[in-house]
Amino acid sequence: MKLLITGGAGFIGSNFVRHIFKKYPKYKIINLDKLTYAGNLDNLKDIADNAAAEGKYSFVRGDISDKVVVEDILKDGVDAIINFAAESHVDRSIDDSRVFVDTNIIGTQVLLDAALKFQVNRYIQISTDEVYGSLGPTGKFSESTPLAPNSPYSASKTSADLFVRAFYETYGLNTVITRCSNNYGPYQFPEKLIPLFITNAFYDQELPLYGDGKNIRDWIFVTDHCKAIDLVLHHGKPGQVYNIGGNEEKDNTEITKTILNALNKPESLIKYVKDRPGHDRRYAIDDSKIKNELGWSQEYDFETGMNETVKWYLDNKDWWERIKTGEYLEFYSRWYEGR
Ligand code: NAD
Ligand code: TYD
Repeated sequence: MKLLITGGAGFIGSNFVRHIFKKYPKYKIINLDKLTYAGNLDNLKDIADNAAAEGKYSFVRGDISDKVVVEDILKDGVDAIINFAAESHVDRSIDDSRVFVDTNIIGTQVLLDAALKFQVNRYIQISTDEVYGSLGPTGKFSESTPLAPNSPYSASKTSADLFVRAFYETYGLNTVITRCSNNYGPYQFPEKLIPLFITNAFYDQELPLYGDGKNIRDWIFVTDHCKAIDLVLHHGKPGQVYNIGGNEEKDNTEITKTILNALNKPESLIKYVKDRPGHDRRYAIDDSKIKNELGWSQEYDFETGMNETVKWYLDNKDWWERIKTGEYLEFYSRWYEGR
């Protein structure tokens, strides 16, 4: 099988590339990535050169919203597209949402158009549970929960999902959408809660908890997400949506205390800051459809996943120290001004 993986230099995309080569050594992968602040070829450093030498991996630096680049890849034929490429951070989307429209909506539309033109057999859209909005204290998101995005990020992901749906309904393109909860694990950019707090705590820097610290997310270890996407790629039914969850609901204070304990750091590092505007209160996932239809289940519980994650960040300081002193630092300082 020959796959076009977009955003394969990002957090989940690079974990997925690694998963595919481990499980299907004969598959070929083209990785199309713009290498934004979040894309990092170091994420695949350990496997890319060997795989390229064996003729089964190539990297194209380019934008998914660039029709010429996308068509140039697809004209040689691929069996499936898996679209991970996105602007993925809610706080950045609050700061400036334009690029979220360009990449997440227009980029998806360009990929869908090209998939149709070159008769690609399968198109997988990697979406998010954030398209469903926010839950109260009870209940879970199912695939039929109405779409009600609250942030510019989730609005852009929802728009993309609607285009994917339309291409299935209108043109019969073989599409599937996955909607997963919050991922954590190796290679996550240190702007998201868990890697930000691990790397800040390491240097005794403040951990900025938004609002009352009681917002709840469902947490899934990234390799469990990759295994679910693998099943969807090979066995998911066309036109369907599959929710993917970790079955590990935690509030942000609990996550923070877990990190502080793991690093043996004091709770005095916690700083309660002004809440994120439009902050969704709670996410929880009903993942019974993918479990019943495709036989997927999580392998990691939260404790095991967090131990592995903290260890990875401690063992890979070079990876994140370089990031935390680059362009990102500028954004970070600006965002936290006055909080
Ligand atoms: P990430 O920010 O770590 O990586 C995104 C990647 O996409 C980067 O390599 C970046 O360079 C690339 N990219 C951005 N714009 C591009 C463009 N215009 N053209 C080509 N490449 C571009 O994100 P992630 O956390 O790995 O998320 C991957 C996907 O999974 C996203 O679609 C996201 O919405 C979805 N998702 C993420 C989570 C999560 O918890 N991280 C949960 C559910 C769904
Ligand atoms: P984040 O990792 O940005 O993921 P998402 O917003 O997509 O769920 O945030 C996870 C939770 O942590 C969310 O409730 C916001 C909160 N949070 C903080 O309290 N402080 C922070 O510095 C960050 C980045 C997030």
